[in-house]
Amino acid sequence: MSKILITGGAGNIGSFITDQCLALGHEVVVVDNFYNGKYRNISDHLANNRIGLETIDIGSYEMVKYAFDKHRPDYVSHQASLMILDSNKFPHKAIDTNITGTFNIIQACSEFGVKKLTYGSSASVYGNPRFVPVTEDHPFDNQTLYGATKIAKEALMKSWAYSNNVPYVGFRYFNIYSERQGLGAFYTQVFQKWIHAIHNDEEIIMYGDGEQTLDLVHSSDAARANVLAMFNEEVKNEHFNVGTGIETSLKEVLMLIEKHLGKKAKVRHVDSDPHLVKRRCSSIDLIKEKLGFVPEVTVEEGTIKYIQYLLEGKI
Ligand SMILES: NC(=O)c1ccc[n+]([C@@H]2O[C@H](COP(=O)([O-])OP(=O)(O)OC[C@H]3O[C@@H](n4cnc5c(N)ncnc54)[C@H](O)[C@@H]3O)[C@@H](O)[C@H]2O)c1
Repeated sequence: MSKILITGGAGNIGSFITDQCLALGHEVVVVDNFYNGKYRNISDHLANNRIGLETIDIGSYEMVKYAFDKHRPDYVSHQASLMILDSNKFPHKAIDTNITGTFNIIQACSEFGVKKLTYGSSASVYGNPRFVPVTEDHPFDNQTLYGATKIAKEALMKSWAYSNNVPYVGFRYFNIYSERQGLGAFYTQVFQKWIHAIHNDEEIIMYGDGEQTLDLVHSSDAARANVLAMFNEEVKNEHFNVGTGIETSLKEVLMLIEKHLGKKAKVRHVDSDPHLVKRRCSSIDLIKEKLGFVPEVTVEEGTIKYIQYLLEGKI
């Protein structure tokens, strides 16, 4: 049995990593400042004393060191981050959490001899794709602050792996969604935004012709990629795409939501936003080959699950 510290462990992906590590019989400590994390994602585990919780901000090395010193983790999964719109709105906070915070986690892993660190990068590093499916060697055409922080994270990981011996595996997540996201502090993905709006008979906005695509991956699948990498001794110091390789257009997302909510959306069409990426479609050949990762949850299953939770009042 190992001890695993999960930053952002009360969030969307981190809480699934928490569940999966517990199911394998490991001890888990969640580190989260609840900026966007939700108690309901971990409340059962807290009630049953199955996890430790440190409510701290990873931007402070003093606090990070305190948590590492207290819990002495064997493995770390680092998912705490500000998301894309929050990063635009609060740029200094994005630097503090995504860059300084990540540096603090890597530094603590080095200081406390952590065996391996897995963490969340993003498909944002690629920007608007020059080709699809996007392979890991696609150039970094990012034009957002958020994407810049992810590129900085990747560079920090690489440098520390070599100079300070912190083995890592990083994941360039595509569009990760689940019933655990609900409506975010500031950033809410189109998927949840539309479900909530249609459910409440509110208007939704469709940018452009609705042909813009997403590569939607359920968070439980993204979590599984982390768990697979954590305990695989052969695979280290690499970045992998986490997607499905399947493009779903906004029109198709809308059709699925309408079908399973049993309601027609009120759609307002506006010009396409030039800042939005036109297509998301990952190549997952590398992660399949090296980690045996295959996504399991289809977009339709994920949509049904989200709607079920919403109708049961769990979101
Ligand atoms: N959801 C997606 O579509 C997506 C896509 C690409 C990359 N990612 C990356 O995946 C990772 C996890 O994302 P998620 O979808 O679970 O988001 P999330 O917002 O649900 O989880 C992030 C967690 O980090 C916590 N947090 C934020 N700032 C913190 C700080 N300073 N100190 C401590 N905790 C802090 C939040 O409270 C939240 O619980 C992030 O690195 C994110 O950038 C997500």
